[in-house]
Amino acid sequence: MRTKFLIYTLAIFAIIFFLGFVVSPHFFWLLALILPFVAIGLRDMFQPNHAILRNFPLVGHGRYIADWMRPKIYQYFIESDTDGSPINRDKRSLVYQRAKKEIDTAPFGTQLDVYAEGYEWMAHSLRPKDYRTLNHNPRVRIGGPQCTQPYDLSIFNISAMSYGSLSKAAVQALNFGAQMGGFAHNTGEGGISPYHLEGGGDLVYQVGTGYFGCRADDGGFSPELFRQTVAHPQIKMIELKLSQGAKPGHGGILPAEKNTPEIAAIRKVTPYTQVDSPPYHRAFDTYEGMLKLIQQMRELADGRPVGFKLCVGNPEEFKDICRAIRQVGIYPDFITVDGGEGGTGAAPLEFTDHVGMPFRDALACIDNILRGFDLRKDIRLIGSGKILSGFSIFRALSLGADACYSARGMMLALGCIQALECNKNTCPTGVATQDPQLMKGLVVDSKKFRVANYHRKTVEAFIELLSAAGLEEPSQLHRGLVYRRVWMHEVKRYDEIYPYVETGSLI
Ligand SMILES: Cc1cc2nc3c(=O)[nH]c(=O)nc-3n(C[C@H](O)[C@H](O)[C@H](O)COP(=O)(O)O)c2cc1C
Repeated sequence: MRTKFLIYTLAIFAIIFFLGFVVSPHFFWLLALILPFVAIGLRDMFQPNHAILRNFPLVGHGRYIADWMRPKIYQYFIESDTDGSPINRDKRSLVYQRAKKEIDTAPFGTQLDVYAEGYEWMAHSLRPKDYRTLNHNPRVRIGGPQCTQPYDLSIFNISAMSYGSLSKAAVQALNFGAQMGGFAHNTGEGGISPYHLEGGGDLVYQVGTGYFGCRADDGGFSPELFRQTVAHPQIKMIELKLSQGAKPGHGGILPAEKNTPEIAAIRKVTPYTQVDSPPYHRAFDTYEGMLKLIQQMRELADGRPVGFKLCVGNPEEFKDICRAIRQVGIYPDFITVDGGEGGTGAAPLEFTDHVGMPFRDALACIDNILRGFDLRKDIRLIGSGKILSGFSIFRALSLGADACYSARGMMLALGCIQALECNKNTCPTGVATQDPQLMKGLVVDSKKFRVANYHRKTVEAFIELLSAAGLEEPSQLHRGLVYRRVWMHEVKRYDEIYPYVETGSLI
């Protein structure tokens, strides 16, 4: 669209000059009409802050006008949405406000129906703490008994999204943002690209079933390549991905034509060949085997924390994992629980909508099973599933998480407008596309600040909630602090909806 704008502008000028010189000089007056629009278009093209205006000079203003005209009834953040609702534009507004450091307070009072089923709130205390005195950058130490290089993880981090599903500019801006804000950036399963390394931010290297970055010629796990890859000092933790919420149990294929030399070098595969990521891991076929791989990875990574990510299907299978942990004596350092409502670049609708346990149920379930097997003290839990605000962090940590990840929140901070074109390579904001023209819209030097701002302001909002609850440390949170209206005349606390399991009771 940038090139088209220039071509149309030149064409209009050529016509006006032709008419002015050949027909009548009066036609030169048209320049007075056109020039202001050309000036606006040129300014749009070169300003660094609005991807839509950079990519669609002049016409992009239509989006902002439409947005300005929309009804403002639910201007502010609807937190108590029932599971399954999309991230609505009010949630988006909050992320944008925080990313751009705009006013993020709400006027007039809540716009929510507080008597509607699903409305949730937290218990504040009559003896709140002064939030200014609390630690504004809380961290949780990841690293169980077998880890020798523990990592102090922020409570809010960038969830797994590969270079490929995101543009190079998006990955760069995320990593710079992570570096500026001192939080972690998960690489996603597509390996570690140079764009992950430019910002110098802490990385969680994710290993999926394609073993990108550590893939042997036969498609299995290569210990030697893994050792080389994880030697980079930016890599602080390793996450073995079993499944993700948007498409658990579904594999992926990288078609030969998309496997360019650049992608092939990053993923450590042969260019222009088809590469399969099966739905299951080839490196093990039992839970004991999985734990041994975790132990092997930890050793190859000089004792860095290694954990795994899953979306819960059958809780009985997770109990089997816990039995295996106790039997084999190998402890993952952390487990990432992804809700069935999780996001993706592309997935079949049936999987997106109806496969995988929703986040809150899954988090409580995994926390309880770990408690039941007396493993919770050694294993940290990271949660992901529409975590966008301070209250979502408060709720997740109360329910059982130690820290959180956000994928789509971070995309919004980068300027994503939910055009829902991640699967088409036509993302108009340059976030989820490989089209170099569209990528120009996303200016790394501008968006990296937005990522860092969004993180900082969201964590600060969480700290304010923590202090309002009369608490000083995230570790003091528990399920008794969140209430939910389960139907019009009944309210339940989270510890009634998700009762705690007694420590050791499942052994
Ligand atoms: C564009 C995109 C790409 C993703 N790629 C991966 C991936 O490579 N590996 C993975 O485990 N999860 C991936 N996810 C899932 C996220 O990491 C996260 O678990 C999920 O979206 C839930 O978090 P959210 O609600 O904050 O988006 C991806 C999500 C998105 C939106």
